[in-house]
Amino acid sequence: MTKLYKGRIPQDPNPLMDEINRSLPFDIRLLPFDVATNLAWTAELHRLGVFSDDELEAVHRALGEVADMAESGAFATLPADEDVHTLVERLVTERLGETGAKIHTGRSRNDQVVCDLRLYCVDRLDTLAGEALDLIDTLADRAAEHAETLLAGTTHLQPALPVTLGHFLLSLAAATERDVARVVNARDLTNRCPLGAGAMAGSGFPVDRERLARDLGFDGVLPNSIDAVSDRDFCVEIASTCSLVAVHLSRYAEQMIFWANPAFGYVRFSDQWSTGSSMMPQKRNPDAMELIRGKAARVQGSVTTLLTMLKGVPLSYAKDLQEDKEALFDALDTTLLMVRVFKEAIASATFFPERLATLLTSDMLATDLADALARQGMPFRQAHERVAGWVSQLEAEGRGIADADTAELSRVFPEFGNQPPRLDFAASVAARSVQGGTAPSSVRAQITYFKQLVKDR
Ligand code: ARG
Repeated sequence: MTKLYKGRIPQDPNPLMDEINRSLPFDIRLLPFDVATNLAWTAELHRLGVFSDDELEAVHRALGEVADMAESGAFATLPADEDVHTLVERLVTERLGETGAKIHTGRSRNDQVVCDLRLYCVDRLDTLAGEALDLIDTLADRAAEHAETLLAGTTHLQPALPVTLGHFLLSLAAATERDVARVVNARDLTNRCPLGAGAMAGSGFPVDRERLARDLGFDGVLPNSIDAVSDRDFCVEIASTCSLVAVHLSRYAEQMIFWANPAFGYVRFSDQWSTGSSMMPQKRNPDAMELIRGKAARVQGSVTTLLTMLKGVPLSYAKDLQEDKEALFDALDTTLLMVRVFKEAIASATFFPERLATLLTSDMLATDLADALARQGMPFRQAHERVAGWVSQLEAEGRGIADADTAELSRVFPEFGNQPPRLDFAASVAARSVQGGTAPSSVRAQITYFKQLVKDR
């Protein structure tokens, strides 16, 4: 291949050297951002007199053509195109000759690559934040349909307390709100400009780094050129932000998978989000949820890949850093896909209130009974023990709380006089009208909160 550095290394590389070195297959997606970086950089070179007015116009025109060609896929890459940066430089130079060959003046691929990559990440993070907010919106819509639908809430996967399905769905909205905050934070950390750092020591040309940053839409300049070309913290931040999104979706996907089992029968995914079996004609599988659960593994892996890749790299740039991209791109691509799929699958799923009610058992009202005794002034610990004793006795008799009538309740708990509390599931959830609680009124307040959150963005 015609090398960038043929003056120093005249011999062709071993084909395997090319293979291990070449990042074009995966960094080609940076092309629009490499063009943006080049537009800003060449404008700065023009201010310094490197390009005449006419030359700058020609360079900008050529860069525009390269961007257009890339969009329509109308160019062939050559084996000598090591990465996206050398590809763009070659295409511009082929058009403009010597003028094109000036574009690399005063810079290095070390500041260029990380400039492109930061621009790309900011763009993807904005998309991810938008998708996550859409998910919150969808969850709020589904919660509004099911603000009163009862569900057997569990802890330890054992019957705990009656809750509303709307409340359950909004628990993911609450986690996703934190995810959005992490995405925004990662975006802010990423949105700093490395351009002008050169290979590591700072450009030898007196470029105005503040203006470059502003032109490219960054919030500011990275303050140290060694750090600017060495830092991949933002990649780790992004991958770990993605990994929490993925973990959240994976947990809820797992829940949906067993809810879709006929033993529960709580939920059915629409045909668009279900798959069958090649052999078993009766099958209707929740593959979308299983893939979300499976893909979370890949996203988690990306954090390990990036941290491990970084831990031994001496300052400043070393080629190890080229390995940031596949893990980072995969984390972003996979997470975006997961969020979109989960959102759409939930939006079109059917929940079955009568099935959700089947696992409500009257022993789940034991806490309400103990609460009622505590309201009569009984120390809660004592109330807990009294109710536990009665529940055990009922269980031995093959009965439940619901089988006891008012008279029996008054006899077992004389503290109530002849006015024992009303024990039923609707009363149980209604009692939990505390902020953030499961009562329909609290669920509606949460819906208002999450809808406002989406609107404010
Ligand atoms: N393709 C390289 C990367 O992704 C660009 C930087 C190359 N720099 C160098 N000094 N060889 O990191």
